[in-house]
Amino acid sequence: MNGFKGKSLTVINDLRADEQLFLYQKTKELKEAILNGGNLDKFRLNDLEMSFYLIFLEDSTRTKESFRNAANFHRGRVNLFDSSSSSFNKMESITDTIKMLTGYSKNSTFIIRSKEEGLCRHLELAMGNYAKEMGLNSPVFINAGDGKHEHPTQELLDEFTFLEKLNWNTSEIHIALVGDLYHGRTVHSKVDGLKIFKKVTVDLIAPPLIGLPNFYIDRMEANNFKVNHYQSIESYLSQSNVAPIWYFTRLQLERMGDEVKDQQMQLRKSVTFDQKFLALLPKDCTFYHPLPRHKEFPVIPTFLDTTPLNGWDKQSINGYYTRIIEIALLNGLFDTEFTPTLEPKQEESNQFVQEVSPLKAQDVKIFDYKVGIKPVENGIVIDHIAKGAPIGDIWSHIDKIRRIMGLDYRSSHGVYHCNDRVNFKGIISLPDILSFSDTQLRMLAAISPGCTLNIIQNAKVVKKFRLHQPPRVYGFEEISCKNENCISNPALCEPIESDFYQSKNGQYICKYCEKPHHYIELWDI
Ligand code: CP
Repeated sequence: MNGFKGKSLTVINDLRADEQLFLYQKTKELKEAILNGGNLDKFRLNDLEMSFYLIFLEDSTRTKESFRNAANFHRGRVNLFDSSSSSFNKMESITDTIKMLTGYSKNSTFIIRSKEEGLCRHLELAMGNYAKEMGLNSPVFINAGDGKHEHPTQELLDEFTFLEKLNWNTSEIHIALVGDLYHGRTVHSKVDGLKIFKKVTVDLIAPPLIGLPNFYIDRMEANNFKVNHYQSIESYLSQSNVAPIWYFTRLQLERMGDEVKDQQMQLRKSVTFDQKFLALLPKDCTFYHPLPRHKEFPVIPTFLDTTPLNGWDKQSINGYYTRIIEIALLNGLFDTEFTPTLEPKQEESNQFVQEVSPLKAQDVKIFDYKVGIKPVENGIVIDHIAKGAPIGDIWSHIDKIRRIMGLDYRSSHGVYHCNDRVNFKGIISLPDILSFSDTQLRMLAAISPGCTLNIIQNAKVVKKFRLHQPPRVYGFEEISCKNENCISNPALCEPIESDFYQSKNGQYICKYCEKPHHYIELWDI
């Protein structure tokens, strides 16, 4: 899709780097116009029929109020949704609630903060078709923070603020991320948001208990960021390569388990700035913080408020400007001005069944399977199951394949030596089963990638296929996201089909909350 109209902003990666840079340019123009008394009409949607819903299911001051002001700027209908007196109390699903609200305007923009991760992605997908059926435009969804997942609109205002400091130079950034990097969604959005810079060095400062999850570190490295690790501000400042930009986050007590929360004072000490550190900072250093600050134990103490280190006040005001532009952009106001400079993402190939070089007549093997497996005249043999794994894991794999695929016919199975006589593998032999459906193949590949499928006719192997991890695992009732806060988690009772895509390192990422899973973890039985 070229242009912005109809897009949603559910994670920062929903906007490519060229789209983000355009947003920053428009924000710069708007900010200048507001501060210097310029013409603001060209930045306004000015459509009385347009609806803006502010749905804040978690507390907020800055995001909610800056969006409310931004929506008012556009002169549409601004609706503050009150969840405490809504039909949520009658156990209505949020999917049903949003469906209703979508019907009230031809064009709706939903700005949603929730504890449930991936909610806006789900709604974007669920409401697009519904709106079309009702003759309405697809609503726009803006994620105003979802659990510990992402906060893309905070990311946009943060990057805009960094660009102001760097005089709009995108060649390089060196930034320290300090505080609760485990639960801090604003930090998680930096993993992709910082990609607008050509060269990125990130210094992570946090004790291991609140360190950045490996998944995000891997993604930073895949984005070619240089990543350095420190456990405290003190250890960071004992070396000389200190970043000129520091981004602090508070300890997210509301998301911590008791075990971590019990250690909060110790953890806080490692990431709280102290007067004695002042002399060790580089010249022109600036501190940022998404706010709010803890009033009793702020990681940026208040004695710094009136020093040149204070970048967080300007940062917070920039939320108003960037959010006006986000609403305008996603409703298509600037589409005629935007020329993309990057290609849209390509869909990846869905190839996961590979024929092991079509067998020639002379290669067709007499079927001669291992001791204990009844020779098959005609049927399928699944071989190389969990090859090389410990024997217990191989049995468990065989058991999973049988139960998940419902292979409860006359058949046999076992664990056997591989040809190297060192490693082991599992085999399931299925006489009289002559083929698998596409769904069964996808299922088998997702449960036991690396296995082979041998088609046996007249006691000869006539075809052999190797199954690889499918690029996407979806459409099965037996899989679910294991993040209890994910909107697709069955415990939340929203009508959502689980869906995972494969990451570069072979993990499966939930389409909604982006939690990584090992392939075996996807299955519920
Ligand atoms: N930065 C931020 O999201 O602040 P609020 O929680 O006050 O919205």
